Amino acid sequence: MDTLKHLLTPIRVKSMEIANRVVMPPMGTGLADEGMVSEANLAYMRRRSRSGAGLYITEIAEVHPLGSVAPRCIGVWDDRFIPGLSKLAEIVHEQGSKIALQLHHCGRESLFHTRNKTAVAPSAIPSYIFGFLGTPREMTPDEVRETITSFGAAARRAKTAGYDAVELHGAHGYLLMQFLSAHSNRRTDEYGGDFRERARFMIECIQEVREQVGDDFPVSLRISAEEGIKNGYTVEDMQTIIPDLVSAGADMINVSFGTHGNAQVYTDAPNPSAPVEYEQGFKTGLARKIKEMTTVPVVSVGRFTDPFFMDGVIARGDADLVAVARQHLADPDFLKNAIEGHPEDTCECLACNQGCIERLALEQKPIRCAINPETGQELSYPDKPAEISRTVWVIGGGPAGLTAAFEAARLGHQVTLFEKEQETGGQIRFAEKAPHKSVYGKWIRTLTAKCLKRGVDIQKGTTVTEAMIEVGNPDAVILAIGADKAICPAEGITSSVVCDPERRGNVQRQRGRHRRRSGGYGDG
Ligand SMILES: Cc1cc2nc3c(=O)[nH]c(=O)nc-3n(C[C@H](O)[C@H](O)[C@H](O)COP(=O)(O)O)c2cc1C
Ligand code: SF4
Repeated sequence: MDTLKHLLTPIRVKSMEIANRVVMPPMGTGLADEGMVSEANLAYMRRRSRSGAGLYITEIAEVHPLGSVAPRCIGVWDDRFIPGLSKLAEIVHEQGSKIALQLHHCGRESLFHTRNKTAVAPSAIPSYIFGFLGTPREMTPDEVRETITSFGAAARRAKTAGYDAVELHGAHGYLLMQFLSAHSNRRTDEYGGDFRERARFMIECIQEVREQVGDDFPVSLRISAEEGIKNGYTVEDMQTIIPDLVSAGADMINVSFGTHGNAQVYTDAPNPSAPVEYEQGFKTGLARKIKEMTTVPVVSVGRFTDPFFMDGVIARGDADLVAVARQHLADPDFLKNAIEGHPEDTCECLACNQGCIERLALEQKPIRCAINPETGQELSYPDKPAEISRTVWVIGGGPAGLTAAFEAARLGHQVTLFEKEQETGGQIRFAEKAPHKSVYGKWIRTLTAKCLKRGVDIQKGTTVTEAMIEVGNPDAVILAIGADKAICPAEGITSSVVCDPERRGNVQRQRGRHRRRSGGYGDG
């Protein structure tokens, strides 16, 4: 039977009582202003904090200026950041949840520092991603010690700012993991050597943090349990150091996976923000392996979207908590909807990465979401009904038209949506037929149902003419008749053996009728 009983059971980590097992893990937003928490950061967190998760872990907060991925990341390397950080914590506390600050140093993984020739790393080995721009400088022994100290000082500031816990970012190929990995650490001093020796930097950072925050303050450690690249470390390697990490002071292990460069030197692991072909909870096995080595709470992450599924993960004991990242961007009401008995209202994250991690990391732009217009734009997103209710016609029932219709209806307008086909969805109807893309179709069905619930009049099989607009005289017309197709310029793309989802869809439906088409939304 579907239940949320296990998911909604509180759990204690040292002094921190967490109301349920749902964690929003760290997600960089690119909304900060030269390290300072901005109004946009606060608005973003205010919306997320209404999800009802028990624990929110902030995006990376930089413990050292040389460790900052970009100027639009949050800083914690100086006391001047404390007031802004406090406001962020208050927002989460107002909802009755707990908040941890993620302590971070990027090492070599920064486009900004690599471009400016200021990147530092355990060894002078270029990043897989940014290496084409330059090679980082090897940290001196003094810099190593200074960096360890900066983790401790940052943790102390987090405690002063009112946080309930801190988390050291030891995952995803950033500095702590750069020390751990043979791919990035060739040091000959006491911070290099075999796997256990390379773990020394991580262990000393945890010890320093513990020293600074005291015995009862919860310290989480985020790890990539396996590196996921050729000749990278494995979960069995990681198992061997878990007892050391815990005795150094880790009270909770947040088990992620992968590193910068998984896509470049791919073996069997995806990027930490896995694409759609990976199933919900596909890395719970890693959490279980870490749990074998320790009694401290363990968090699992990876494509979680459905609270009932998450409940099973907790019930089976695969993990003690589940981290839900991108679903918090695509629809932060996923947990509330499930608790209130209408989970069908939740728009499921497409794992497309287009609006979130790719925009942030590759385009260096603030976070958005491909399917949620509010995300990253909370400051300008209207949340009160319009003063005057108007008649709005939306022409086109694809994703843009449906979203526009829903948003207009949400604001209290009288909305009619016209779709010339007999179904809504536009080109998504074809894109969803590609392998693993059925979630796109689910999104359209959810959006269509939400429009109907909001009172949108959906007129299918109707082509709008100028005469209709003159007679109907709506206050506003939104034209959403579809995007241009992206057609891959590969040789042979027009060959008769190449079949795109649209053509396949039509061939299936119109048996025998031959139509020539190529491309299709979201095929890539
Ligand atoms: C936009 C974005 C920013 C992220 N930033 C961070 C970060 O600051 N620190 C971190 O540990 N992980 C970061 N991650 C990884 C997520 O915490 C999470 O591990 C990953 O997205 C997988 O979870 P999901 O499948 O639920 O999205 C980020 C992910 C996304 C999508
Ligand atoms: S942009 Fe795509 S992957 Fe990112 S949160 Fe939105 S739907 Fe999910």
